[in-house]
Amino acid sequence: MSMAPRPPIPELIPESAPFTPEQRTWLNGFFAGVLSLDGAGVKPLSPAESAALGLPGMTAPASDGDDGESPWHDQTLPLGERMKLAEGRPLRRRMMAAMAQQDCGQCGYNCQDYSEALFSKKEARLNLCVPGGKETARMLKTLYQELDSAPSPAPTTEAKPADATAAAAGKPGSSRANPAEATFLSRTRLNKKGSAKETWHIEFDLAESGIEYQVGDAFGLFPTNDPALADAVIAALDAPADFPIGGRALRDVLIDGVSLGPAPDMLFQLFSYITSGERRQKAKALAAGEDPDGDAATLDVLAAIQKFAGLRPEPEAFIEALDPLQPRLYSIASSPKVDANRIALTVDTVRYKIDSRTRLGVASTFLADRIAPGDTLKVYVQKAQAFALPTDPNVPIIMIGPGTGVAPFCAFLYERMATKAPGRNWLFFGHQRSNYDFFYEDELAGMKAARVLTRLTLAWSRDGDQKIYVQDRMREVGRDLWAWIAEGAHVYVCGDAKHMAKDVERALIDVVATYGVRTVNDAVAFVAELKKTGRYQQDVY
Ligand SMILES: Cc1cc2nc3c(=O)[nH]c(=O)nc-3n(C[C@H](O)[C@H](O)[C@H](O)COP(=O)(O)OP(=O)(O)OC[C@H]3O[C@@H](n4cnc5c(N)ncnc54)[C@H](O)[C@@H]3O)c2cc1C
Ligand SMILES: NC(=O)c1ccc[n+]([C@@H]2O[C@H](COP(=O)([O-])OP(=O)(O)OC[C@H]3O[C@@H](n4cnc5c(N)ncnc54)[C@H](OP(=O)(O)O)[C@@H]3O)[C@@H](O)[C@H]2O)c1
Repeated sequence: MSMAPRPPIPELIPESAPFTPEQRTWLNGFFAGVLSLDGAGVKPLSPAESAALGLPGMTAPASDGDDGESPWHDQTLPLGERMKLAEGRPLRRRMMAAMAQQDCGQCGYNCQDYSEALFSKKEARLNLCVPGGKETARMLKTLYQELDSAPSPAPTTEAKPADATAAAAGKPGSSRANPAEATFLSRTRLNKKGSAKETWHIEFDLAESGIEYQVGDAFGLFPTNDPALADAVIAALDAPADFPIGGRALRDVLIDGVSLGPAPDMLFQLFSYITSGERRQKAKALAAGEDPDGDAATLDVLAAIQKFAGLRPEPEAFIEALDPLQPRLYSIASSPKVDANRIALTVDTVRYKIDSRTRLGVASTFLADRIAPGDTLKVYVQKAQAFALPTDPNVPIIMIGPGTGVAPFCAFLYERMATKAPGRNWLFFGHQRSNYDFFYEDELAGMKAARVLTRLTLAWSRDGDQKIYVQDRMREVGRDLWAWIAEGAHVYVCGDAKHMAKDVERALIDVVATYGVRTVNDAVAFVAELKKTGRYQQDVY
């Protein structure tokens, strides 16, 4: 591997600062050291230090003997591995390991706070972790059984559900427990005709909502199911659409009250009670998380009813067996500094076929197909935990956001434009094909012309024979990337959690190792330190 020469100590103290050249040289060296820009080793913060900084995923040593480390706090690890890493830990820590580790806030908490809330019995719902799905719910159910027999020292950190805080604050629109109403304004397709993707720029009017947000926050919204799917479920159940459930018609509850996505274990349990023989065995196996026919992953609620065709559960028991319909979160793509009454999102539409039926992502198709301009819906702002512009407007930023990951970076750029922030801004965007999937091409060109967007680096994965991803471009321009980082740039990543985020981090480590002239181990520690000091922030899903 060819090594680039070690970069000089960066000029962090401007020429105009009131120092002699000697003082400036000394201060540059001092700050480079403080920022870990010089010297190979980076000493990681201790859990207590991290907790003191309020950084996610860490907690101070606890009275139950736990050291506060969360080695499982990595959304790319499968559940089995996460649970292994948590083996021997107190129950509340194993509960945390069962979460999907995205700290996405969809449950109304972060992963740690949700587990602390379950452990302290302030929260009883075991099925709130959307990215963890059935796997997490099942593991939590198993762990929950230990709860009554477990010694119960007070949790070290007070669980802070966003819900409770907002309810106390009484501010509508500031949590999923306390939504406000917004008006749907418009949708504009971001891909050109011929694209394999369907992505929409969505706008809402917040004028009547009282909602306030900041760039980096996410927008939560309560979607409804496709009425045609609710009707198909009613037909498969052979139940009257107006059957009363808690004072409402069955059809209405199926549209806005329950999830018609993956069939929950409880539904198979219900089926097992009202059938017999081989079908009962199958329903019991499915309820236990087994896959007797190899089709478990394809069984949404309708497919599950069809699999057990002819069973006619009581509509109330049926509804009781389903999961509640959860809100969905979207990164905010606008800045309130431009227009505090408007909010924009970038939404990829989820549609896929299993057998002959097209399955619809609830919220994304609600936004793409079913909501009309002028309609109102329940919404809230999910405050970002650690995803925000640097407080110093002079600090340069590097934003890596392929696909819908570009959304918060549009917000960042608008904000920096509106506030005339002098810091430089570098965006890595990528998608499938340049002719069809160049989201916000005109806006980004305008920002470049206005010198708000200092640099735009593009990666098209399906333009040529070889896939080019954002991380490939990062390696190509590694020298410049390192120079920005050495000058104190903050690095942001948004988009796919499962693969992209990990691959981008790997690329960043390579860049730091190559151009920062470090061993791989030191580069890993350097990037970990960037994370711990809030200079490497992720909004991934
Ligand atoms: C903090 C945060 C920010 C987010 N920001 C954005 C954003 O800016 N833009 C955006 O588009 N999304 C964003 N998301 C994701 C978003 O919240 C939803 O998860 C997404 O829109 C899908 O929701 P849905 O209701 O349409 O689909 P759902 O009804 O939830 O269905 C999605 C599920 O369908 C299944 N599925 C999807 N495709 C296939 C397939 N091909 N084959 C088999 N199964 C499949 C998967 O199990 C998937 O989990 C964000 C999520 C979080 C947590
Ligand atoms: N579960 C998954 O496996 C998966 C994967 C991707 C996205 N998603 C989800 O799909 C939704 C919308 O996605 P989106 O519209 O934002 O776009 P996207 O599907 O994430 O694609 C955006 C771009 O990223 C590329 N890409 C794929 N794998 C990558 C990787 N490992 N590293 C870097 N880039 C990679 C894609 O290339 P190609 O498509 O040509 O490979 C495409 O050019 C999100 O909710 C996301 O989480 C899920």
